[in-house]
Amino acid sequence: MEPWRTIIEPFRIHSVEPIRMTTRREREAHLAQAGYNLFALHSQDVLIDLLTDSGTGAMSAEQWAGLQRGDESYAGSPSWFRFEAAVRELFPFAHIIPTHQGRAAERILFSVLGGPGKAIPNNTHFDTTRANVEATGALAADLVIAEGRVPSSEHPFKGNMDVAELEAFIADHGAANVPVVVVTVTNNSGGGQPVSLENLRAVRSVCDRHAIPLVLDACRFAENAWFIREREPGYADVPIPDIVREMAALADGMTMSAKKDGLANIGGWLACRDDALAEACRNLLILTEGFPTYGGLAGRDLEAVAAGLREVVDEDYLRYRIRSTAYLGDALHAAGVPVVRPTGGHAVYLDARALLPQIDPLEYPGQALAVALYREGGIRGCEIGTVMFGRAPDGSEHPAAMDLVRLAVPRRTYTQSHIDYVVEVVLAVAARAGELRGLGIEHEPAQLRHFTARFAPLAA
Ligand SMILES: Cc1ncc(COP(=O)(O)O)c(C=O)c1O
Repeated sequence: MEPWRTIIEPFRIHSVEPIRMTTRREREAHLAQAGYNLFALHSQDVLIDLLTDSGTGAMSAEQWAGLQRGDESYAGSPSWFRFEAAVRELFPFAHIIPTHQGRAAERILFSVLGGPGKAIPNNTHFDTTRANVEATGALAADLVIAEGRVPSSEHPFKGNMDVAELEAFIADHGAANVPVVVVTVTNNSGGGQPVSLENLRAVRSVCDRHAIPLVLDACRFAENAWFIREREPGYADVPIPDIVREMAALADGMTMSAKKDGLANIGGWLACRDDALAEACRNLLILTEGFPTYGGLAGRDLEAVAAGLREVVDEDYLRYRIRSTAYLGDALHAAGVPVVRPTGGHAVYLDARALLPQIDPLEYPGQALAVALYREGGIRGCEIGTVMFGRAPDGSEHPAAMDLVRLAVPRRTYTQSHIDYVVEVVLAVAARAGELRGLGIEHEPAQLRHFTARFAPLAA
């Protein structure tokens, strides 16, 4: 390793997109028009967009070249075979089923495996995962280890599943009613925290004992593999692709959004070993996504993912990726802003409940903080808390386990000076945190309310 401390982007910039500053008065008007829901903003009115790392990254010259090679044949296109080979190189599952993005893979898998009376555990379900499980009438349960629910805990693998709780969960519901165990790597809703191979092995052995399949929600598999290499004894010298294959070998299948560690702007897949499951999934795929050699994707999208999968396991890329996210998290932590520790792979999570103790969780401290960051400096983050997870399927509302604001860092998109600006804005908001007030919900849809709810600021 070279001795330099400065994180450099391991690429040169090849084409650029303008971003534009707005005035505070303009941002106030945009917020009111958007019903204080940052999903409703026009992205051109956002200066630094940290809403999500999903599909928002920059593609490489190789990926753009792949778009030109894209073959748009309906069936059996060479682009499909390049995609399938690139996926199988890292995830050697018998069946690989392309989908237009991760949630399509989830919908298909849970439509086959879920249903009333079924119970599906995960370390922490992502919002669409939970919604797709619940839409089938099944119960979605989060069984992350206790440390994973404590923002300040420095545990190296806070995404791990609580194996004793998993055992108890299976005993409670009966193995016949638990059709699958899901482990999300890294654990997005729990702070982008990694899962160790040791934990995956322990989960696997519980699954084996009860003959329950284990499926990875593998959106950020490469970032998870990097953390294993950095933190898990015995892996310091193991190449990243080998660690990924070791993760895959412990699972019976996976769902994937290629918009994350596929380094693509769209795409995903479902993979499994079981022939009967694959057949049932392909039947559903054909109903809504497309033929099994394109699954809702253009041939050029398949090419972009194939190239992205080779680039995402590159060590220079991953070192830069993980260190630059930590750069943001460490700067905020050092300045006393409560953040989920240690910094996750793709995002920094501000602990809004700790920063804004004057706001009751049912008045949405995370939403209040996200709105304040936009108002202050045009930064768009995403509430991950009571707005996202507070409404239960029976209609009751409860505080979520945590009220966070996720600042997700798009891949290969922003430079260190953009991030320095973000630090400055967050510190300015934190300095006047005591003045912030909560919000009420004026309108919400029946499901996934955070995307389209409208809010109104509560009076001081
Ligand atoms: C852990 C996790 N699972 C599933 C998904 C769904 O993927 P997509 O947005 O491609 O539908 C996401 C997206 O953010 C995610 O983070």
